[in-house]
Amino acid sequence: PPAECGACVHQSFVRLSRSFHWLLVVGSFDSSALLVLAATAKTSSCMHRTAARCLTTLARGMIDLRRGHPPTAELPHAALAKACAAAATDLTSNAEAGLAIQYGAPRGCASHLDTLQRWLERRYGSMVRRDGLFTTNGASHGLELCAAALTAPGDEVVMEAPTYFLAAQVFRDHGLSIRSAPVDAGGLDVDALERALRAGTSRPKALYVVPRHGNPSGASLDKDRRAKLAALAREFGFYVFADDVYHLLDWSSAPLRRLLEYDAAYASGESAGGGDSSDPAAAAGGDTAALAIPDDARVVSISSFSKVLAPGLRLGWIEAAPSIVAAVARRGYVVSGGGCAPFTEQIVARVLESGDADTHLDAMRRRCRSRCDALLGALDDAADVLRPLCRPTGGFFVWVEILVEGVTAARLRDACAEDVAFLVGDACDCDGLPIGDVAPACLDRHLRLCFAMLDENELVEGVARIARRARELR
Ligand SMILES: Cc1ncc(COP(=O)(O)O)c(C=O)c1O
Repeated sequence: PPAECGACVHQSFVRLSRSFHWLLVVGSFDSSALLVLAATAKTSSCMHRTAARCLTTLARGMIDLRRGHPPTAELPHAALAKACAAAATDLTSNAEAGLAIQYGAPRGCASHLDTLQRWLERRYGSMVRRDGLFTTNGASHGLELCAAALTAPGDEVVMEAPTYFLAAQVFRDHGLSIRSAPVDAGGLDVDALERALRAGTSRPKALYVVPRHGNPSGASLDKDRRAKLAALAREFGFYVFADDVYHLLDWSSAPLRRLLEYDAAYASGESAGGGDSSDPAAAAGGDTAALAIPDDARVVSISSFSKVLAPGLRLGWIEAAPSIVAAVARRGYVVSGGGCAPFTEQIVARVLESGDADTHLDAMRRRCRSRCDALLGALDDAADVLRPLCRPTGGFFVWVEILVEGVTAARLRDACAEDVAFLVGDACDCDGLPIGDVAPACLDRHLRLCFAMLDENELVEGVARIARRARELR
């Protein structure tokens, strides 16, 4: 690349690195050539040094287990292209459809919400209340809206430790005071929460939890904890922001009802303990009226198409009691903006109706299952130095403890820096005071590994490299 202009060098490098990566992938460019290039680049300007680092990484075949994104190559490109083309054609061929690019209804486009309700009922295998749905720009936006509508600055919000760390910033933006509750292999420790609530050492306005296939824990709340948490929310008057983004990305043999349904069951006096298995066949047959979400439900299900379709769509939904949906829909910017994503709703409704969303989600579940199994198998081979908190049956992540005395995740990360990357446990801390007499979470001996992005061989090799370095540090 020409050396005179930084921006120009950068652009050239980006183009070159893409080609190198591609050549490496197709196997026609060997890694020693990349190392020579890296050495040459190292002698030059700052931008070239960056290039050198990237080239070295490419040459050594860096295995990156950090990011929790769906793999770009596996996004449903064709299905979305087809739906976009149909939505675009409709804009000119049909006067009604032109409304798709007009301001929309604050809660979301009616036809999309109808389609979403039907699709969710079939996938969840249980009732979804149509007047409880609200279109968002994804789960992060759902959290933002709930924090804005249901909390006030100074209120306490309880988060898991470890938690989906980016949610903590959303709560801080709203001036909430963050407290942390412990997590074990069964997810949020609801007994510890109950002790703190009864002792009065925690008085939350809201509690944020990933009830199914947690990020980063991989853990799921069982039905007893769900029922108890919903009951505590009612008794102590706090909202539960249930982040359900991984709920449908599940391959367990015993699917769980989402937390919201335990709230409904509690309110209607139905025993939440009875029959937890969701039955999509029964739902498809119309047997969906078993539960009704009461108007004063405390649990809000916050979900998204980011993990099950594509994150760039920025489309998600809130499912909650109509009173909560109404509070969210009254937010000034929702009213002023006329709905969050009217045109994207038209596109996604087509993907849901055509069956393409099912095809994609089922393929993703199969792939993620195989990758998760490969990762867990590799961890079994590394059992002398690494231990998973639980064996997830869904989601994207495994949370792993380092068993080597005195070795922290940061030290292991540095030892691995050349050829394998993972998220250190500390990064998953919400930095909140513990809710009660529980010891502060000790996350610095843990790693979060994402299995969604890589193939089975890379996952096995990645874990083998981490284990090798951990043994060297012993
Ligand atoms: C638990 C959890 N919630 C929310 C999100 C973000 O979702 P969205 O893209 O819908 O905003 C993520 C993404 O990694 C996540 O893991």
